[in-house]
Amino acid sequence: MPDKLPDDDKEDIEIGVSYMVRRKVDNWCMAEVIQKRALETGEPEFYVHYENHNRRLDEWVTRDRIKDSSYDGTEQGAGDVGGGGELGEGTDRKITRNQKRKHDEINHVQKTYAEMDPTTAALEKEHETLTKVKYIDRIQIGRFEIDTWYFSPYPEEYGKCPKLWICEYCLKYTRLEKSYKYHQYECTQRQPNGDEIYRKGSISVYEVDGSNHKLYCQNLCLLAKLFLDHKTLYFDVEPFVFYILCEVDRYGSHIVGYFSKEKESPDGNNVACILTLPPYQRKGYGKLLIAFSYELSKLEQVTGSPEKPLSDLGKLSYRSYWSWVLLEILRDFRGTLSIKDLSNMTSITQNDIISTLQSLNLVKYWKGQHVICVTPKLIEEHLKSAEYKKPSLTVDINSLRWNPPKKPNKKHKNSTSTH
Ligand code: ACO
Ligand code: ZN
Repeated sequence: MPDKLPDDDKEDIEIGVSYMVRRKVDNWCMAEVIQKRALETGEPEFYVHYENHNRRLDEWVTRDRIKDSSYDGTEQGAGDVGGGGELGEGTDRKITRNQKRKHDEINHVQKTYAEMDPTTAALEKEHETLTKVKYIDRIQIGRFEIDTWYFSPYPEEYGKCPKLWICEYCLKYTRLEKSYKYHQYECTQRQPNGDEIYRKGSISVYEVDGSNHKLYCQNLCLLAKLFLDHKTLYFDVEPFVFYILCEVDRYGSHIVGYFSKEKESPDGNNVACILTLPPYQRKGYGKLLIAFSYELSKLEQVTGSPEKPLSDLGKLSYRSYWSWVLLEILRDFRGTLSIKDLSNMTSITQNDIISTLQSLNLVKYWKGQHVICVTPKLIEEHLKSAEYKKPSLTVDINSLRWNPPKKPNKKHKNSTSTH
């Protein structure tokens, strides 16, 4: 990657300086220039990070999208605050902390270093410098061309090209369309590796053991990293099992998303990483994967929780799933229920139940304990509200063929600590 740009561009745009940059959606936004490169045509491109936006929106832009003079700090507050759904920031309207959190999550506003505790801030800074620039802009996988979100450590020459071609079945990657086409002709695989453990209509789930299908799982992790900001597992896949969600048609089983799970989790996690590929997002597959992970925990008779930190989209999806599950039970249940009972019924940890009930205002702290506090009217209100969304896709446990692996010292249900 040539760092030097043609002579006529020198001293124009500088790395480390902020400028007004035009985003794809055609609004101008302050952005820091992080890196430069020259295209094959000699035209320079700049890698920019939009201030107050999630790093998934970082991108390479051409010179015409950058305004000439650099940012001098006088335009504070100008520009947009995120992609749609603004809560009227910049106006005088007061917003509550809760509204701000929701707004920040929906618009993917990243916490500033000042808002983080010092350790998190230090780790975050290190993570950012290591993964600042995303070279692979796009991938072709099956019939989809997808814009990538984050850096992924594909080996040397693969990691530096703007577009990768990926076989949707075996996940092998190539740099050239030509080699991809040849692979399509050669590759006989039409489904993920491993065993099909769930099939309902056109939806299918495969279980893939990292020890038995190392290359496939490594390829999956490299692909997933393009859409996951915080993730460190790429090559050490043996301690994990992968659950691949597919849409099946007459051509084969097309990967939609997946989650990974540690074979032994000392922290009681039932999901390590979870992903829906962008073309399939916001159709209910994420919550289907989440529901699936809890069905496995129920069969194992343990509680489980996703590995932290959760991404912004991960938080939204989990919160939506937990709210729905708990409200469904509370609506139909007559009599009293403790948090422990709810945990037994759902395999959701007591901590996750408490935080969900707190966000729904359905719990009180009384004599050192969290007590569920519901009235039919409150439940009714929630069921009508935006927090409550019945998932469009649900797991049919009768279509699940799976037995928990035999573990030497299996943890018993509710061995996790209470609040
Ligand atoms: N903006 C606002 N809300 C969103 C967005 C978005 N871009 N995407 C999803 N949501 C909300 C939906 O509104 C939905 O809630 P609702 O039904 O109550 O409205 C909820 O999130 C889940 O929607 P699904 O369609 O079920 O989920 P999806 O298939 O889109 O997958 C996932 C969610 C897996 C988090 C996906 O966004 C993704 O792959 N993101 C990138 C990777 C990632 O961040 N993974 C989680 C990391 S944390 C971890 O791995 C443990
Ligand atoms: Zn293949």
